[in-house]
Amino acid sequence: MLSIEICMGSSCYSRGNSASLELAEKYISENQLENRIRLSGKLCLGNCSEGPNIIINGNLHKNCEPECVIDLIMHYLESEAV
Ligand code: FES
Repeated sequence: MLSIEICMGSSCYSRGNSASLELAEKYISENQLENRIRLSGKLCLGNCSEGPNIIINGNLHKNCEPECVIDLIMHYLESEAV
């Protein structure tokens, strides 16, 4: 199970994570990945200056722009499938 935690603190949220959340939700539902991905929100991670921040399987991804989110998710899904 892939764990995606999106920082919902005001800084990350306003700088891209609101769009990233929508994109991730859409990608999961369109590809029926509900049983492979657990998506959740996080409070501010205390790392605002390097945001927007997203944690995937415990790894912090800094400066994670919405354009990169789906690629990142696909990358993790592929490596889990091996
Ligand atoms: S709002 Fe995301 S680290 Fe602070």
